[in-house]
Amino acid sequence: MRTFTDATLTDAVVARLAGAEDPRFKLLMTSLVGHLHAFVREVELTEDEWFEAIRFLTATGQKCNDKRQEYILLSDVLGASMLVDAINHRRPAGVTENTVLGPFYVHGAREIKNGDDMAAGWEGEPTFVSGRVLSTDGRPIADALLDIWQSDHGGHYDVQFEGIGDKQLRAKLRSDADGRFRFHTIKPSSYPVPTDGPVGLILKRMGRHPFRPAHIHFIVSAARYETTVTHLFVKGDPYLESDAVFGVKPSLVVEFKRSDSAAEGRKVGLEVPFYTVTYDFVLKPADTGKEQRLISAGDAVRA
Ligand code: BEZ
Ligand code: FE
Repeated sequence: MRTFTDATLTDAVVARLAGAEDPRFKLLMTSLVGHLHAFVREVELTEDEWFEAIRFLTATGQKCNDKRQEYILLSDVLGASMLVDAINHRRPAGVTENTVLGPFYVHGAREIKNGDDMAAGWEGEPTFVSGRVLSTDGRPIADALLDIWQSDHGGHYDVQFEGIGDKQLRAKLRSDADGRFRFHTIKPSSYPVPTDGPVGLILKRMGRHPFRPAHIHFIVSAARYETTVTHLFVKGDPYLESDAVFGVKPSLVVEFKRSDSAAEGRKVGLEVPFYTVTYDFVLKPADTGKEQRLISAGDAVRA
């Protein structure tokens, strides 16, 4: 019988993968075991540290439910979500960049018409968002679907409120024949990622703040184009350089232009002061079989 030592253990664990049938799974596990063992060796992990890690991962799982995905949040604050995103969505210059989906996406938002108010009934600074959905050659994409959600003026998403019935701060909207879209909303605020769980504790121990710069989320999709999961960030936000989840890209930072002109306000049906945002989304023609999976917290619990 062989005695495994700290020098031979990694090879022994990898050798036990000989019976794994799925080659991709075998590759992933071989690499994972190698990196995990290398980490343990490099830091000379103590037994107390090992147990603290076990307790942390246990608490992370216990915090998950159909509305809250603490593991995705952990992946976000460690930069893993943005790394996966970057590897899977390399796009030519000029195509709108992806960023993190985040935990507040929910399937099945209501559909509104171009020009409608997505934030009817929500307190906040009136904002008019408009632009076009274009192909890489500059041609408009008609009937593109924009799935939009955002935080309110206090930095909370609709799903974070109890007892608001079906009141939503999210909507779906389709581009018109010229690829144009427009909607009314309120200006979003910067907000902290949820800190009342294990991820909040680990952020604190890392000496990091939990804030994300203000943004509006968009999923823009159209037949025969790659779906784009992205945000528009508010230019000038104090957290643009230190986003807790590393999601900011300069091409996604846009001016929310303040207007105090009543005449301009009448044109878009808003009282002063109000903000306007203009942005054109550019989609890349799809490589077949490369659709992005859109996961909400509930999906992960059911999976
Ligand atoms: C968000 O933008 O909604 C978000 C993304 C990652 C973690 C927490 C929130
Ligand atoms: Fe967000």
